[in-house]
Amino acid sequence: MKKSLGAKTLLFPTPVLMIGTYDKAGKPNVMNAAWGGICCSDPPCVTVSIRKARHTYDSILERKAFTVGVACEAKIAEADYVGISSGRDVDKFAVAGLTLVRSELVDAPYAEEFPVVLECRLLHTLEIGIHTQFIGEIVDLKVDLNTLSEDGLPDILKIKPLVYDTAHKGYHAVGPLLAKAFSVGKKLL
Ligand SMILES: Cc1cc2nc3c(=O)[nH]c(=O)nc-3n(C[C@H](O)[C@H](O)[C@H](O)COP(=O)(O)O)c2cc1C
Repeated sequence: MKKSLGAKTLLFPTPVLMIGTYDKAGKPNVMNAAWGGICCSDPPCVTVSIRKARHTYDSILERKAFTVGVACEAKIAEADYVGISSGRDVDKFAVAGLTLVRSELVDAPYAEEFPVVLECRLLHTLEIGIHTQFIGEIVDLKVDLNTLSEDGLPDILKIKPLVYDTAHKGYHAVGPLLAKAFSVGKKLL
């Protein structure tokens, strides 16, 4: 039996994305976004929904580029900080002690401390309502060497990404592997 909670934007979990941009003046910035994710395999694309009020909103339109970092357990306070302060008022990289890296592929920066980063060029902008959906084509994926597993792919247990609980507004950790996808269901085929 289920109880109706109405038309709410609760989905479990969402990622905790670190959106890196340069503003019109060239000031680097990073903001926290929980409303986003991969949205196409070919071309490889990621989407993020951002309110017009955010400094990041203007920056993405200005530069036609952004980066998407994956927030991790080791930088939980920094990840939250960039979601409660604006690049209009402060230099978040400086205050949070984040190391600025200039992407060589797109006109946007990222923070070295986040173990995974997607470098994106703006492909589409969709006005939905309060939020605008930005779709970025991923031109490169950069991953910390020490998070790679033996097969050369990133290991989620080494990355230790944060996941977000939209109901209680909390950051959670990722748990152990339960089963292989495209495999465990085969017993029901
Ligand atoms: C956990 C968390 C998730 C957030 N998700 C989003 C989001 O998906 N979209 C959005 O527009 N703002 C989101 N925010 C709010 C922005 O990160 C916040 O308003 C930030 O100050 C904007 O920074 P800026 O003005 O430098 O762009 C989130 C904040 C937190 C703490």
